[in-house]
Amino acid sequence: MCASPARVLPLVVSGLWPPYRPRMRALITSKTARRALRPIVELLDQRIERQVRRVMTNTVVNTTRNAPGSTAADVTQQELQKLRGRQRPLELFFDGTGRGASRLPSAPHLDRTIAELARVTGDKDGAERNVAQAFRLLIALEALGVGRIAGGTMNIVGKLSAVPLLDPPNDEILEIGTLYGMFGAALIRMMERAGRDPRLTIVDPLAGTQLQPGATMGDDASGTPVQGAAVRTNLSLAGAAGAATRIQQGFSEDPEVRALVSDRSYGVIVVDGDHSAAGVAADLEWAERIVAPGGIVVLDDFGHPKWPGIKEAFEKHMATETRFTYLGQVAHSGYLRASA
Ligand SMILES: C[S@@+](CC[C@H](N)C(=O)[O-])C[C@H]1O[C@@H](n2cnc3c(N)ncnc32)[C@H](O)[C@@H]1O
Repeated sequence: MCASPARVLPLVVSGLWPPYRPRMRALITSKTARRALRPIVELLDQRIERQVRRVMTNTVVNTTRNAPGSTAADVTQQELQKLRGRQRPLELFFDGTGRGASRLPSAPHLDRTIAELARVTGDKDGAERNVAQAFRLLIALEALGVGRIAGGTMNIVGKLSAVPLLDPPNDEILEIGTLYGMFGAALIRMMERAGRDPRLTIVDPLAGTQLQPGATMGDDASGTPVQGAAVRTNLSLAGAAGAATRIQQGFSEDPEVRALVSDRSYGVIVVDGDHSAAGVAADLEWAERIVAPGGIVVLDDFGHPKWPGIKEAFEKHMATETRFTYLGQVAHSGYLRASA
C-alpha cells in the first residue's frame, strides 16, 4: 500500500494503522493473555534459576588466587570468611570487651541524643557537631587510657556535648565520683574545644574498686584498680589542664572533704558519686551551696532503671526551696541550672 499522509491519516484515526505491530503488542499485554501465559513464564523462570545455580556450583574458577578446582560457590564462601576475619579486629575498637558497654550506637540512638541535646541546649548545629566530636574522643581516650569511662555511650556523649553548649558561667568544674578520671579528662577537652579554660576538681574515695552503697559492684570490666595512679594517667592525656586537676580523695558527704573543696563557686558540678537516694540528696544539698549563679548541675544516671534513688532524690529536692531549675534530660543524665 502506498502510505501517503492523505491516505494514512484516516486509518491512524480509526486505529487501523499501523496495520499489525501495536495491535499484536496490545494482544500480548492484555490481562487475559498475561494470565494465559503465566504458567509458561513461571516454567521459564524456574529453568533459568536452575541453570544459574548449576553454573554457580559447578563452574571451576581457575585463577591463581583460588585452590585448583574451586567452584564459584567455594570462592564466595572463602571471600565471606576472609571478610568476617577482617571485621573482627575492627569490631574491637567499638565492642564492649574490656569496658562493659558497646560503643557502637545505632543511627536512631544517635539521632535521638542529638534531638534531646538540641532541646535542652537550644543549639541544634552545636548538638550535632559536639556529638560527633565527643564520640570520637570517647573511643580515643578508652583506647589510650587506663580503665574506662562509666556508662552507656549516648549518656557519656550527651554529657560531654551538653556541658560546653550550656555555656556555664565560669570554668570551675567539680566532679563528684570520678572512677578512673577519664570522663574528667574528656570534659576538659570538650571545654577547651569551646574556647574555655577548664579547671577541674575531683572528689572520689579511690578505694581500689567502685563503691556503691547498697549495690554489689564486681570486678571492673576493664580489670584496672580504681586508684589515684590511674586517674593521674588519664588526666595527663588532657594536657596542662588535666595535669593541674585537684584530686581530693574521700567521700563527698565528709565535712573535711567538703571544707577542702568548697573554696570556690563552681560553674559545673557533675553528681556521679554515691547513687543511693540518700547520697544524691546529700550531694544536691551541697551543690546548692557551692554552685555559681547560673551554674550547671549534671545528675548522672538520671531515670536509669538500675539507679532509682537518683530521680527519687531529685524529685524530693525540687519540692524544697531550691535555686535549681530543671532544664531537661539527655540519654540518662538530667540537667539543672542555678538561678543567677
Ligand atoms: C559511676 S562511678 C563515676 C564514673 C565517672 N564519673 C565516669 O563518668 O566515668 C562512681 C564513682 O563514685 C565513687 N563514690 C561512691 N561513693 C562516693 C561518695 N560518697 N563520694 C564520692 N565518690 C563516691 C565510686 O567509688 C566510683 O568511683
